[in-house]
Amino acid sequence: MTTKTFVLFPSLGVGHLNPMVELAKHLRRRGLGVVVAVIDPPDNDAVSADAMTRLAAANPSITFRLLPAPASPDVGAHPIKRSLDTLRLANPVLREFLRSLPAVDALLLDMFCVDALDVAAELAIPAYFFFASAASALAVLLHLPYYYPNVPSFREMGKALVRFPGVPPIRAVDMLATVQDKESDPTMVRLYQFKRMTEGKGVLVNSFEWLEPKALKALAAGICVPDKPTPRVYCIGPLVDAGKKGGNASGERHACLAWLDSQPRQSVVFLCFGSKGAFPAAQLKEIARGLESSGHRFLWAVRSPPEEQNTSPEPDLERLLPAGFLERTKNRGIVVKNWVPQAEVMQHEAVGAFVTHCGWNSTLEAIMSALPMICWPLYAEQALNKVFMVEEMKIAVPLDGYEEGGLVKAEEVEAKVRLVMDTEEGKKLRERLVETRDMALDAIKENGSSDVAFDEFMRDLEKNNLENGVRS
Ligand SMILES: *[C@@H]1O[C@H](CO)[C@@H](O)[C@H](O)[C@H]1NC(C)=O
Ligand SMILES: *[C@@H]1O[C@H](CO)[C@@H](O)[C@H](O)[C@H]1NC(C)=O
Repeated sequence: MTTKTFVLFPSLGVGHLNPMVELAKHLRRRGLGVVVAVIDPPDNDAVSADAMTRLAAANPSITFRLLPAPASPDVGAHPIKRSLDTLRLANPVLREFLRSLPAVDALLLDMFCVDALDVAAELAIPAYFFFASAASALAVLLHLPYYYPNVPSFREMGKALVRFPGVPPIRAVDMLATVQDKESDPTMVRLYQFKRMTEGKGVLVNSFEWLEPKALKALAAGICVPDKPTPRVYCIGPLVDAGKKGGNASGERHACLAWLDSQPRQSVVFLCFGSKGAFPAAQLKEIARGLESSGHRFLWAVRSPPEEQNTSPEPDLERLLPAGFLERTKNRGIVVKNWVPQAEVMQHEAVGAFVTHCGWNSTLEAIMSALPMICWPLYAEQALNKVFMVEEMKIAVPLDGYEEGGLVKAEEVEAKVRLVMDTEEGKKLRERLVETRDMALDAIKENGSSDVAFDEFMRDLEKNNLENGVRS
């Protein structure tokens, strides 16, 4: 029996490459052959060959292939549109590449790579999607093309509630930023994308069944996609970087970890907003004041404000934070410039709460560390995640005031930190996180729900290939 080979096809940008690599590692652990095909248009500075080289070096059992392809000539287009156009233009390159391989048993597509479905159909390779966010988000996105034609622009609806099958009511302002204007190019592109996603044979989701039963039920019942069959959804997560478990995998230990070593258990509030999360100076000052008046210990990763990122990528903390703040809080808090080893920090027993931008990867990492969360969504589908995390999963509390470019006040930061760290409600939240972490661990164990879902995916693939006589 020959090993099966899966080709993974991420969208443009490192942010899309990382989750695919987590999936690739998962497939390798199952003994499957994995090739990650990375489109490389000439103007692509995001997925540099560098990032790929680094990932390839760290994961020698995964094959990476950089595929040079033309960029969309429409330089003035919205980035989302340009991205999908560029990926579509890469179809011939992808087709040639797939043909050059001895056998391809499945193509696993990132959610943006919908036009690769045409290549898959032509070559009779079964195509599945890998959805690196919550199943609840999938339920919303798949329903959006059916919902949006009947309502005004979300931008005009503000805080009015919109209702989708399988998820709690969502304020219009919390819907994806790219679909706020109904008639805009990005909305058109995304509706096209979400509609085409249903053409996949199935969707692998980086989540686990216990966490999102209602959304999964709605998806399985076919009510999110009313006019055709919904592809089968397989929750195979959480896929998180397991290599980091137990601490110092990469040799040198970051100084903030040594600092955490000397703090009491669950006493530190950790604030970190992903690779792009940057706040204006006025907002940084509000956060600082809130942390200071909360009286709690903190570890805070700070980036330069967006308007200063190009001129001074290294944040000038003395100038950006309130006068004397660093001195007054030096015994109970540290501010780290730009980067912290997030996964290790979260696993440290001194950390007791996580203020997060609600990126799904960070959320899963926090779940695995049983950390209560305070939500401060910034971009992409993060405000949607916030709704699910707060209303449905009950693993977080929201901060008020971030909407529509607003300022979150110091008093609000203080209040939510105190709520999580000091109150009975915070204690309940912490217990809920322990339960959630245990359920996540159960899901990925042998015969756990995610393990079983993966086996079902493999069985369905096998069945499909037998029926369609895929070359293999
Ligand atoms: C999550 O983020 C970590 C860095 O914090 C990265 O190493 C990992 O690949 C990411 N995982 C996913 C699934 O995106
Ligand atoms: C998993 O299920 C299989 C088949 O039902 C069984 O043989 C095996 O012992 C189970 N493994 C565990 C760890 O429960």
